Amino acid sequence: MPAALEAARARSAARIAADVHTLARPPFTADPEAVCRYAYTPEWTRTVRWVADRLAALGFAVSDAPLGTLVARNVPAGAPSVGVGSHLDSVRRGGAWDGTLGVVMALELARLDAELGLGLPLTVIAWLEEEGAGFGRLLLGSGLAVGDIGEAELRGGIRSLDDGRPFWDVAADAGHDPARWRDSARALDGLVAWLEPHIEQGRVLQDARRPLGVVSAIAGHAHVDVTLTGRAGHAGATPMDARADALLGAAELCLAAEAQAARRPGATATVGELVVEPGSMNVVPGRVRATLDVRAADDAVRDAVLDGALAAGRAAATRRGLAFEAAERARRPAVRLDPGVRAALARAAEREGAGGPELVSGATHDSASLARRVPSGMLFVPCRDGVSHSPDEAADPRDAARGVAVLAHAAGALAAAEGALSTMRKGTPSPV
Ligand code: HGY
Ligand code: MN
Ligand code: MN
Repeated sequence: MPAALEAARARSAARIAADVHTLARPPFTADPEAVCRYAYTPEWTRTVRWVADRLAALGFAVSDAPLGTLVARNVPAGAPSVGVGSHLDSVRRGGAWDGTLGVVMALELARLDAELGLGLPLTVIAWLEEEGAGFGRLLLGSGLAVGDIGEAELRGGIRSLDDGRPFWDVAADAGHDPARWRDSARALDGLVAWLEPHIEQGRVLQDARRPLGVVSAIAGHAHVDVTLTGRAGHAGATPMDARADALLGAAELCLAAEAQAARRPGATATVGELVVEPGSMNVVPGRVRATLDVRAADDAVRDAVLDGALAAGRAAATRRGLAFEAAERARRPAVRLDPGVRAALARAAEREGAGGPELVSGATHDSASLARRVPSGMLFVPCRDGVSHSPDEAADPRDAARGVAVLAHAAGALAAAEGALSTMRKGTPSPV
């Protein structure tokens, strides 16, 4: 690799570490012990602005495309460019690296491009609400851009988890113009490819002692809201054989979901939320709401796990005299990433001495949306012991710096293949 890129490696690692460290603390998180920032909270807005200001200082034209996704280009709007980025929002008690590392690596790539005159046509994107921690819908921003979500959902189906208000109203109160939601697609204007760097959130790379990994596919997921309704009663005066205990029905659902997934290699099933009502020590639970998250790299396997878990849950509910309702919230297919983009990333990784077998991502990512419209690829950076969605998340900035060099090579190759390098930097970028 050019000696200049090599020398820049140490500087990149230091800058990446500093940026991730900065964004992991107040005022960029609502929780001093973990990262907590989601759509339209002050912490999230501040974080988007922090990245936008640094890109603008590098000469990028920044437009917070309608509703809050950050889009910043170093080429005129619509000119061919390579998209690089991820998301800045987190789960409610998350770590410093999930999503944020991908945007920080894109920012570092933009810095190197400017400092070393790499001539890369870049669009840096930080997608709105990838985690669903604000409104319960994963991939909301990128889903809007590719047409997965329509106005009816924005006006009513998708609601704040904090106060139940429609997304439309919350976005408007935050100063955005939800009526322009269709303009979300303009973030994709001119993209010849999309590259998303991200922590692995598993431990395949750590166990193989590899610094980077190219992703072949992203598992599909299904999200279902289950409500079990029994009869609240006195904990001391209600005999065990006279109960309709909603929590025990939910417990059987949890164990059934675990059993269904455990029988299928690579499949996962998780009940992440359980709301017990009335939720008092001396009252038999009358109603329980549970969320079911089921994933697999094969859609038929995912559906078999989901159907099996729900059937077992329904049977348990009938046996226990409970009502059982299941409402599907989202169902997204598994996605194979673009062979050409994967090959460009693999060649670049080989050049960096970081080659190796591809990985399947159990976690979903905005690339699962982007792949519907743009040739997309992902580059994984190992995270310690595979821990993620936790304040214990950790990664090595030196791996990330190496990943930035891989992104630089891959973006250059993809841009050149599209003849995009010839359009680079003709005239100053126009504001979008
Ligand atoms: O849930 C996921 O897979 C991602 O972290 N939003
Ligand atoms: Mn995540
Ligand atoms: Mn993520």
